[in-house]
Amino acid sequence: MRITGRTRLAGIMGWPIAHSRSPALHNFWLDEHGIDGVYVPLPVRPERLEQALRALPALGFRGCNLTLPHKQMALPIVDRVDSLARRIGAINTVIVAADGGLEGSNTDVYGFRESLRDAAPDWDPTAGAVVVLGAGGAARAVVAALIEAGVAEIRLVNRTIARAQRMAEDLVAELGRMSVHPWQSREAVLEGAGILVNTTSLGMAGEPDLEIDLAALPQSAVVVDIVYVPLETSLLAAARRRGHRTIDGLGMLLHQGRPGFEAWFGTPVRVTRELRAAVLSTLVAAR
Ligand code: ATR
Repeated sequence: MRITGRTRLAGIMGWPIAHSRSPALHNFWLDEHGIDGVYVPLPVRPERLEQALRALPALGFRGCNLTLPHKQMALPIVDRVDSLARRIGAINTVIVAADGGLEGSNTDVYGFRESLRDAAPDWDPTAGAVVVLGAGGAARAVVAALIEAGVAEIRLVNRTIARAQRMAEDLVAELGRMSVHPWQSREAVLEGAGILVNTTSLGMAGEPDLEIDLAALPQSAVVVDIVYVPLETSLLAAARRRGHRTIDGLGMLLHQGRPGFEAWFGTPVRVTRELRAAVLSTLVAAR
């Protein structure tokens, strides 16, 4: 990479930010396409988020991504938010518009949809219910993507049931399609499911394992874990042993970066085997 007088700038704001894989992702694409641009980690304390976002146009940045703990806090700061991001209540991508205004969107929905399309192109959204574990920010994006895909029935399971109820009210126009279940029911609700998605932090490196017996899950069901460190969680290992199709969390991470990149740097990008390997090597190196 060479920095010139014309280098285009983008980055990611978070606190802390050192763990983020987004610089590896975006700089891979910049190198791949020979674009005169750079994508930098921006360690921004929560109390300085507004100042930092407002500085983007002044510094000539094309925009940025947002990660923890900024995704919700940034929503009232930016000038425009698309309707999907507003319903989810979080933004992860900011684009500096031609007039200098800040446009916020949530590309996790796109990331989940595209990773599912890549890994299970023949998955039928109407074949069986959807079971989603978790009700945090990631779950909201996953559920929004599944609704958009046209799923018939969503069973939402969360430890804190009130949080799942709130999420159902925010996201689903016809509440008939969505039911909310306590954590203890996570095995019973697998009956007749066509897809199971873990959006909780359980199974992530440093977190407890997700304990769940998959016996009630139909053989044809797809099992998705949005965790990507480790790439194969115990949930995915158990699902694979039972013969289910499994999808890890790396695809969602890579695909969610595409809309921002394309807006900032003006070039469409793809998720290739080489990209997966490059980002994966940074995950392995970090352990
Ligand atoms: P994110 O924005 O990445 O989704 P989050 O908002 O912190 O992260 O959500 C984490 C999810 O993991 C939540 O659904 C959380 O359940 P609660 O809503 O009850 O907090 C779930 N989770 C975390 N630890 C858990 C545990 N030990 N058992 C069950 N669920 C857990």
